Amino acid sequence: MKMKNTILKEFEERFHTAPQLYASSGRINLIGEHTDYNGGFVFPGAIDKVIMAAIAPNETDRVRVFSIDINEEAEFGLNEGDIPAQSWARYIFGVCREILKRGGTVKGFDAVFAGNVPLGAGLSSSAALESCFAFALNDLFNNNTIDKFELARIGQSTEHNYCGVNCGIMDQFASVMGRKGKLIRLDCRSMEYEYFPFAPDDYELVLLDSKVKHELADSPYNKRRASCERVAARLGLETLRDATMEMLDSIRSDISAEDYFRAKFVIEEKERVLAVSDALNAGDYETVGKMMYETHKGLSKDYEVSCEELDFLNDTAKECGVTGSRIMGGGFGGCTINLVRKDLRDSFISTAKSRFQERFGHEPEVYPVVISDGARKVEL
Ligand code: GLA
Repeated sequence: MKMKNTILKEFEERFHTAPQLYASSGRINLIGEHTDYNGGFVFPGAIDKVIMAAIAPNETDRVRVFSIDINEEAEFGLNEGDIPAQSWARYIFGVCREILKRGGTVKGFDAVFAGNVPLGAGLSSSAALESCFAFALNDLFNNNTIDKFELARIGQSTEHNYCGVNCGIMDQFASVMGRKGKLIRLDCRSMEYEYFPFAPDDYELVLLDSKVKHELADSPYNKRRASCERVAARLGLETLRDATMEMLDSIRSDISAEDYFRAKFVIEEKERVLAVSDALNAGDYETVGKMMYETHKGLSKDYEVSCEELDFLNDTAKECGVTGSRIMGGGFGGCTINLVRKDLRDSFISTAKSRFQERFGHEPEVYPVVISDGARKVEL
């Protein structure tokens, strides 16, 4: 409520017209990490942390956007050469350009936005920003004729072409397609998906933010993807989706040790997501948790996207008897996601906070997870 009023007030003061209001969400991912760009499965859900934007067409060919959180305005045109200097504004510029490249319509507009998705925490604040604007511009200028998959792809292409991150489709898909109380199992090759209700009686999902900031652009993220693509090509496959450990072992001496371990993680992770689907259907949260720990191990040892702080949080979870715990998102910092029994929740959080503080000099931030709707128009 407070965010909505702040945004509307700022818009009124700057632009003196009546805007429409839109929002899109950050995401969690239960399991299936670094599998999306390998044609595998992911298991995300949208959360109750959003980017919200007030937007109104301005009858010009210029875009004026004010970010409340950064306290900065950007102005740009809609041609390829008009790319703004501010990195945050490139997400919005990219969305405009990707809609135009697909034959859609974008005209000049004014916008004010703010958010409560923590930045660099692995909760996909950038996907929330892209999805919020893609959804809004589809509504304002395209009569909602661009389908939701395409809106997600518009966000993904924005990352590739304007932000330097060769990401998969998971974050934007979850941000656009998220539904209250439901996780989504998405097959990133066929784009078939299924909603899974997630409201266990005895368990809760808790995020612990290490506060180690990750920056995916120009990061080892793109290198991880390149490793996977090299191995797939070596196996004569389009992606690692159809690769097996036997196939990988058969080319082990022809590829680098690094590429071998990256591909090993991806192949194993694919199986874990399927095991988690079965376990969720059976209400078997112990197995879900076991798989989460396995994923952490793989991400830390084989995929090497962990850091000391995240490994520490994972060890602490294990020692506290937490059912499942792992790095979430791209890695290199950000959060662990923890599947914890409700009766253990408080003691786990206080132990994790005090141990982490003692070791690293600051507390991890705790976010409870509320699985929520994705991109939407907000009632004024
Ligand atoms: C980032 C990317 C996603 C996905 C995850 C890792 O969040 O944006 O596409 O690859 O990392 O699973």
